[in-house]
Amino acid sequence: MAQTEAVNDSALREEALGVFEAIPQKMTAIKQTEENPDGVPLTAEKIELGKLLFFDPRMSSSQLISCQTCHNVGMGGTDALPTSIGHGWQKGPRNSPTMLNAIFNAAQFWDGRAGDLAEQAKGPVQAGVEMSNTPEVVVQTLNSMPEYVDAFKAAFPGEADPVTFDNFAAAIEQFEATLITPNSAFDRYLAGDDAAMDDQEKRGLQAFIETGCTACHYGVNFGGQDYHPFGLIAKPGAEVLPAGDKGRYEISQTADDEYVFRAAPLRNVALTAPYFHSGVVWDLAEAVKIMSSAQIGTELTDQQAEDITAFLGALTGEQPIIDHPILPMRTDTTPLPAP
Ligand code: HEM
Ligand code: HEM
Repeated sequence: MAQTEAVNDSALREEALGVFEAIPQKMTAIKQTEENPDGVPLTAEKIELGKLLFFDPRMSSSQLISCQTCHNVGMGGTDALPTSIGHGWQKGPRNSPTMLNAIFNAAQFWDGRAGDLAEQAKGPVQAGVEMSNTPEVVVQTLNSMPEYVDAFKAAFPGEADPVTFDNFAAAIEQFEATLITPNSAFDRYLAGDDAAMDDQEKRGLQAFIETGCTACHYGVNFGGQDYHPFGLIAKPGAEVLPAGDKGRYEISQTADDEYVFRAAPLRNVALTAPYFHSGVVWDLAEAVKIMSSAQIGTELTDQQAEDITAFLGALTGEQPIIDHPILPMRTDTTPLPAP
């Protein structure tokens, strides 16, 4: 009987459960630690405010660019460009990673230089190649619109002056924490539904574990936890790994950190082409092959690469359905768009 060829689901599931975790159905709190196991509760008011801010292009100096511009909730949380285009049509140096499930990453950015999503959110607003604004102008803009002032008061009750850049970032973090994608075929398989993945996806999962991808891509997000040299075994070509971007070296100035990047999270990866921090690889199967030669030193057979690619497709979860919010109306005191 063909059953000898068939995947042993219970053994495969057990192996997978040792390495991965399902995306939870709902987030109710963030920043749980040993000292504070309850963490910081998410509140409806903070989430709603964070959603306004995420979609509001007036947070950028041109008043044209919002978080949504580069992290489109309808496109897997990315801009689907090789590298992002920001203020004044400037091309940034890196591909825009998805903010979907980013709450589960140990650190943010390709090089992990931001500890959490609140710290992260302060970056793009000020980055010259992204939104090119200042915290002062953001706060001035927010204070100029009574609906925003009321929304900050509701979100941060008891604070004398709730309209601050820190609270701006904290509210965005709470909204982003709701942007999770549960119930992928893989998660349903993990939960016990043998039929959730087909045979090819199961073979792909097996190959993903057996060839050692899991050394770096593990946990709830299949990555996002630690750092590795891109080109551990063999450096990819300069197009994929441009010499000018040395990854964590820029932060630590330590030779060991040259070309070291965060193991990219792989949830929803089928939706987030193009790949790598350089964003030059459009085909997921090609990205898988590059990884196998650069990171594990095993040339995958075409069949294995196809199976792994099919399996990565099973990591696409339910995308959050977000109604575009109606944004507060500007007033006469709202700063004008900068040229
Ligand atoms: C990285 C959110 C605005 C382009 C990230 C990450 C998050 C995020 C959560 C890290 C994801 C990860 O590391 O897995 C936001 C928010 C924004 C915003 C909340 C608004 C306040 C923008 C804009 C652009 C942009 C306007 C494009 C012009 C990028 C790029 C990275 C990134 C290129 C990777 C940068 C690097 O690794 O050095 N963003 N983003 N973001 N975002 Fe944004
Ligand atoms: C990135 C898959 C093994 C570390 C990626 C990406 C994919 C992938 C598809 C691109 C994600 C994106 O651009 O959003 C795989 C597969 C593997 C494997 C299928 C096994 C064949 C490994 C191993 C390591 C590793 C063993 C660590 C030694 C990384 C790093 C990145 C990455 C650091 C980010 C590269 C960058 O800066 O652009 N992986 N991976 N991977 N992976 Fe892997």
